[in-house]
Formats: sequence, structure tokens, C-alpha cells
Amino acid sequence: MEQYAIKGGNPLVGDVEIAGAKNAALPIFAAATMTDETVYIDNIPDVRDIDMMLDAMANIGVTVKRTGRHSVMINGGNIHNLTVDDEGSKKIRGSYYLLGAFLGKYKHAEVVLPGGCDIGCRAIDQHLKGFRALGAEMVIEHGLIKARAEHLKGSHIYLDKPSVGATINVMIAAALADGMTTIENSAKEPHVVDVANFLNSCGANIRGAGTDVIRIRGVAKLHGTEYTIIPDQIEAGTFMFAAAVTKGDVTVKNVIPKHLESVTAKLLEIGCEVKEEDDSVRVVAAKPLVHCQVRTLPYPGFPTDMQPQITVALALAKGTSIVTESIFENRFKYVDELTRMGAEIKVEGDTAIIDGVARYTGASITAPDLRAGAALVTAALAAEGFTIVENVKYIERGYEDFHIKLKNLGAQIELVNTDKEFQKFKLKMGQTA
Ligand code: EPU
Repeated sequence: MEQYAIKGGNPLVGDVEIAGAKNAALPIFAAATMTDETVYIDNIPDVRDIDMMLDAMANIGVTVKRTGRHSVMINGGNIHNLTVDDEGSKKIRGSYYLLGAFLGKYKHAEVVLPGGCDIGCRAIDQHLKGFRALGAEMVIEHGLIKARAEHLKGSHIYLDKPSVGATINVMIAAALADGMTTIENSAKEPHVVDVANFLNSCGANIRGAGTDVIRIRGVAKLHGTEYTIIPDQIEAGTFMFAAAVTKGDVTVKNVIPKHLESVTAKLLEIGCEVKEEDDSVRVVAAKPLVHCQVRTLPYPGFPTDMQPQITVALALAKGTSIVTESIFENRFKYVDELTRMGAEIKVEGDTAIIDGVARYTGASITAPDLRAGAALVTAALAAEGFTIVENVKYIERGYEDFHIKLKNLGAQIELVNTDKEFQKFKLKMGQTA
């Protein structure tokens, strides 16, 4: 099984190119099947969740052609099966966007209950509520979410929570419903806006994405388009915090600095310098880090997907920090692993109380999910000695070339498969123990 072998101690220095946003690409792929015309999508990240989504679509008759490492051609004109239940779809969250897309286009869809990272209860009641409001009958049977409608009709939907998934799914279906749909208390994340922009470029009529009221006037038909996915703000934020943790100097390139404001604000608060340019952000961590308080919130608040990364930094900061996770109730599982590296963190419910320590020490650890996995790698890069990180398959689900990009910034990291390869890595790094 693939693992990262890491020797800590080198500050990360240099430039890193950020890939396209996975969480924008997944719903955009689904939405691309709503037209029978061809859609070209660019700036897609080369990560495993993307492969699984495209495979799931190809299995049911969508024509999917990779036109380059970061581009794909999609044609939904020959879909022969409205049941999506392959193994890959069970593992990723994004597969449920095919429910919204097929419900909009064919008024019928059956999609396996989706997986995704194990970070807490991942309810879908708001998706069901939204689809029902549009006139669909929704049932869950034999592990499938089944949706059927005689007629999809625009409606007024108030989301109990600003769910990213529910906002996008309902918006996708409503694009082809009859009349006006209003989604209130909608999620405002940049990828919600990206999906709306994509749909509009296919002829949809969506206004207000990025605010908490989205209005969708249904159209009869969508057409083909060419579209470029936005940069991944979570990948960017991960490298920005990696700079802070390793006392480095990293410029993240190909980003939209506005999407990174909450991350930038926290980096400034804990003592880093942050310099924004048009499409890049430089983080310099020349001074010791200081404690702060963080609460994860829907956008534009501090993202839950950056919670492990900031915790890793705060565990090395002077003083006591408090991190409150308000989105997913099970997102502190990585703390036990960080404790093995010397962190002093106590978790009480949704809150982590962190007493900063002077250093991490290398250990054998396991990535429990995607973002926590990446965060643990940044801890290992700052640690004294060697670390082995198991379960890197989680990290590869959402970070393109993660260890290669880190290596290019000066990290001592390698992908290894066996203990023998780990020993070899240690020898190469000039130490036998
Ligand atoms: N929720 C409900 N009912 C619903 C939907 C959500 O109660 O019908 C709750 C969830 O239980 C959670 C909160 O609402 O407490 C937020 O969930 P949301 O629907 O916003 O999250 P998601 O769509 O399941 C996406 C990302 C996650 C990211 C969250 C929050 C994708 C594929 N996943 O999940 O990304 O953490 O939004 O921003 O877009 C990741 O990339 O590592 C990842 C986990």
C-alpha cells in the first residue's frame, strides 16, 4: 500500500501552481450531461475522485474523452441507463449530482447513496426536500436514491442549512424545470458560483449565485459550451498553511485571492506575512506563530476543509488556541495521529483546545481522510526526523501530484510501498535510524 516517507525539517520555499477545483468539477461534469451537445471542460484536476466520476458517467453511456491531462470532452446525447450504482459512485460524494442532472433532463434518476470522506453524518434531507418541492417523488430503496417526476415545476425552497451539495443539486435540476425556482439560505461557496456560471454558459438562466438567494428561471434546453474550472481554494489554502507550518516562503499561483480571504486573515493573525497579487498569494512565515481562535463556517467563513491544516499550525503556535468545528461533527479524528507527533490537543465535542508545543517529532501515522491527511503531511514536513504516512490514497483523491509539488518546494518526501523502500529512503536522506 502506498505511503509517504517524509524527513521533516526543510522549510518549504518557492512557487506552486494550483490545480482546478475538484468540488466544482464534479457537479459541472454532472451538469454537462444535461445537454445532448458536446461540452469541453478545462482546468480539471488530475485526481482520483475525478476519474471515478468520469468512469461512472462513461458506464451509463455518457461519451467522455480526455483531451489532455486537465481537459475533457463530455457528450450526454447517448445516455442509456439512468441508474448510477457502480462501485466508484458509492465512494465519492459528487456522484449524487447526477440525480439533479438526470431529474432535470429526464425527470427520472436512480443514484446510489454517495460516500465521500468519513467526517461525520452526511445527511441528504435538504436535497430530497428541494427535489420534492420541484415536484419529484423521492424514495430511498435498496441503497439507491430514486427520483421521478411527471413534470418539474419551479418552486420556492428554504434550505434549513446552507448545504453546498443541496444548493448545487437543486440548482442543476431547476435549470430545466418549468418556471422560476428560488433557493433561499443557499450556500455561497465559489464552486456554487462556478456551477451557476457553467450552466449559464450552456444557456441556463441563474441569478444570485454567491449570495444567499439564488433565482433560477428554467429553460427548455441547454446547449454545448467550453468552460474553465476555477482554481481549488482548498488546495491553495493547504499550501499556504504548509508554508506557515514549515516556516517557509511559498507563493501559490493560479488562484483567485478573493476566495482565500478567510485563510489569509488567519495567517496574518497567527504572525505570517501574506502578499496578494492578481492571481497569486505569497505566504512568508519568518516569525514564530501565535495562537488564535477559529470557528469553521460556511463561505465566506473559515472553511471546514481547512480546519485540520490550521490546527496543525496552531499546535506549533505560542499559547492556547481554540478551534471549533461547526459543519461536520467528526472532523477531529486526525488529532490522535498528531498527538503521536507530540501535539498537545484536547478535543471536547466540537472543540479542540490546543496548547502549542515547540516542535513535532516524526512518527508512523495514518491519514484518516482527504484534508486531514494533507494536514498531517504538513506536520511531518515540520517534524524532527522521519514520518511514514499511511493511507495516502485518501490524499490522492483530491490533491494533484501532492508529494511532487511539495518536493519541488524543497520537501524531503517520497512515495514508498514497502518497509524496504522506506529504509532506502532513510539511507538516501543520510540517516539509518
Ligand atoms: N447537511 C444536511 N442535510 C443535507 C445536506 C447537508 O444536514 O441535505 C449538513 C451536513 O451534514 C453538514 C452540512 O450540512 O453538516 C454541510 O454539508 P454540505 O452539504 O455543505 O457538504 P457536502 O456538499 O456534503 C461539500 C464538499 C466537502 C466540504 C463541504 C463543506 C464536495 C464533493 N464535498 O460537501 O468537501 O467539506 O461541502 O464545504 O463538494 C472535501 O473536499 O474534502 C470535502 C469533504
